[in-house]
Amino acid sequence: MEKELTHSNKTVNRLLASILAAGLLFGGINTVVASSDEAVAEEMTTLFRAARAVISANQANINDASKGDKGLSGDFVTAKAKENFHKATGHKLDDSTDAAKTMLAAIHSTMNQAQPLINEKGKGFKGFLPAIFAKQVADTFTKKMNGNMRIKLTAPKKYVRNRANRPDKWENSIINGKFMNASYENGKPFSEVAKHKGKDAYRYILPEYYKQSCLNCHGGPKGEKDITGGKKEGGKLGELGGAISFTIYK
Ligand code: HEC
Repeated sequence: MEKELTHSNKTVNRLLASILAAGLLFGGINTVVASSDEAVAEEMTTLFRAARAVISANQANINDASKGDKGLSGDFVTAKAKENFHKATGHKLDDSTDAAKTMLAAIHSTMNQAQPLINEKGKGFKGFLPAIFAKQVADTFTKKMNGNMRIKLTAPKKYVRNRANRPDKWENSIINGKFMNASYENGKPFSEVAKHKGKDAYRYILPEYYKQSCLNCHGGPKGEKDITGGKKEGGKLGELGGAISFTIYK
């Protein structure tokens, strides 16, 4: 009896050991794949935000009716975005990858196209806002990546202004099921392998929160018109106001 037990314990132990080894092996491989996707998603969403921050920092400059050239050329904004990226991550952007090249080109072309609009003298508010810039960059990036990657600015359904930015089913489920959850860690991105439009994909989504400066347009009183002519959402300081969604297709 004792012998039998020992024997079966050994078998169980051996079985457990092989399950553990297989788990480590496969887990290890998965982690490697996931972490390189995660690194790309992290770098690209950071660069995207770094570029948008240039537009935010220059909003008063852009809205200045007395000034012609605002100095926000494609070259200037891409250089500044790289600088912001360096500050945010502590390392220089590796601009040799397809994704980084495409993102920089999208920022560059968005700014070049915006020159006549933002440099018009005698006009104050021109409707060139961080979210508008971000959408143009996102659409250009996605188009140029040609079905390999996609970036999208979105928001909780109740706060979406531009219908094109509405969250899809997966984005909506993460926003509602995780980001809106009081116990969810602030600012933490969520990622998983999930289908997108029938294709296998690595999906990554990063939450963003309303700051004081956002509330001029997205704050209260709800329904009141903001400077853009849009209706204020009634959002609160620190509340989830948006998300950046990044997809890498397999
Ligand atoms: C001057 C007014 C204004 C300010 C300030 C402003 N926004 Fe917006 N925001 C808008 C408008 C207008 C849109 C719709 C853009 C479009 O039509 O694509 C928008 C769109 C967005 C979107 C995309 C989803 C959607 O609703 O279409 C997000 C996310 C967002 N804003 C977040 C923010 C955050 C966060 C801040 C502060 C850091 C901010 N906004 C500051 C006016 C503003």
